[in-house]
Amino acid sequence: MTLSCIAPQFGHRDQPFTVIGGQGLFIETKEYGQLFDATAGYWYNILGMRHPELMSIKAELGGVVSHLYEDWTNPWAEDLALRLCKMTGKQQAIFAATGSMACENARKEAVAYHLSKGRGEHDLLFAAINGGYHGSVGLMLDIADPRKNKVIINGPVVYPNNASANNAFEEHKKYLSSFEDKIKEQEKKGKKVAAVFYEPVMGVRGAVELPKEYIRGIQAICSAYDILLIADEVTTGFGRTGVMFVSQQFEKDGIRPDIICLGKGLSAGHYPIAVTLVNEKIVESWKSLEGETEREFAYVHRRGNGIAGTPEGAAIGLQVINTLERDHLPELTKQLGGYALRRLQPLTKLPNVRAVRGKGLLIAIDVKDSLYAKHIKERLRKEKKINMIPEGRMLMFCPAFTITHNDIDRVALSLEDVLE
Ligand SMILES: Cc1ncc(COP(=O)(O)O)c(C=O)c1O
Repeated sequence: MTLSCIAPQFGHRDQPFTVIGGQGLFIETKEYGQLFDATAGYWYNILGMRHPELMSIKAELGGVVSHLYEDWTNPWAEDLALRLCKMTGKQQAIFAATGSMACENARKEAVAYHLSKGRGEHDLLFAAINGGYHGSVGLMLDIADPRKNKVIINGPVVYPNNASANNAFEEHKKYLSSFEDKIKEQEKKGKKVAAVFYEPVMGVRGAVELPKEYIRGIQAICSAYDILLIADEVTTGFGRTGVMFVSQQFEKDGIRPDIICLGKGLSAGHYPIAVTLVNEKIVESWKSLEGETEREFAYVHRRGNGIAGTPEGAAIGLQVINTLERDHLPELTKQLGGYALRRLQPLTKLPNVRAVRGKGLLIAIDVKDSLYAKHIKERLRKEKKINMIPEGRMLMFCPAFTITHNDIDRVALSLEDVLE
């Protein structure tokens, strides 16, 4: 078969390359030959390419497309839903194919919650933290962009390198009170902020960790105004930052999101599967909406997506969790991430590097500007045989958790060379 249209659909991403295979930490590309993959695909191949345990599930269940939708379910999806709910303290799981869909489904469940309280769908607004990223479908694309959304939350203060922002208490108080002002202003116009989306460690913004007092402050405002808290752990979930989920860690500090969105690491890049986990508040809203024909049609019968939670995807999800737990990979990621940060930190002495920041194996090397980042990307591929996909100004170091100390040394030395 000949493809008549190859590159145009990727027009927004320049210098695309074609990956024709791969194994472990290496990818095989048409243009550059074999590359060491320092971004785990796009942060999702957490166990490396073609992981043997996951590939054998694909061989066994690959042809079974019995999806999970409405009344139709399957044992793997039931097990995975139960396992994820137990791990996160949530009550129900809604499967989807991508992280963007999981976030958009979370928004829809927040709408259901507010409908059940008698609020009008068209009066609802959604808030997010400035510069966050929650995907590319529905309202998610623009939600964290202050030019497009009226109820953006400013902050947190970002210090160079890894300095804790917890002492930026006064600034954070200002940001939070300005958020509260925005809520009140909208209420005067008859609008209601329905939910706040946040990433516990902001990926695209450059591995920026939310300080606890800042997110706790947001939670306090949410409780006061009956606003739901939605943790987008699409990137941070499944060990990326050195813990299985940051929300489990935050729980010790009294931070409890109503909804958690997961994707990427859930299948370690071996199948398109993502999930939205909801708490009892949302489940109660489903019950109270039952019988309201018009709303029920929109928000109860339209829950979930076709070809989501398939046997193959769910079985892979279960195996990923088993492997992460059995091999203690979140703990390992914490150690490797600490080593990588120490190893990469000296880069900040170079004139073109603004900062090196990160948590676990979610690390950003913040460079001069986005054009320079693209130039470095190309040099890394051509001269060092390393793939590192930037996000704007940020060179993202987010490898598979199977990376070794030697591999980290190799990436650090290569960066030293090209970031002249
Ligand atoms: C925090 C976060 N949320 C949502 C998404 C969207 O996930 P996907 O690309 O699988 O749709 C991403 C993707 O990078 C992300 O980083």
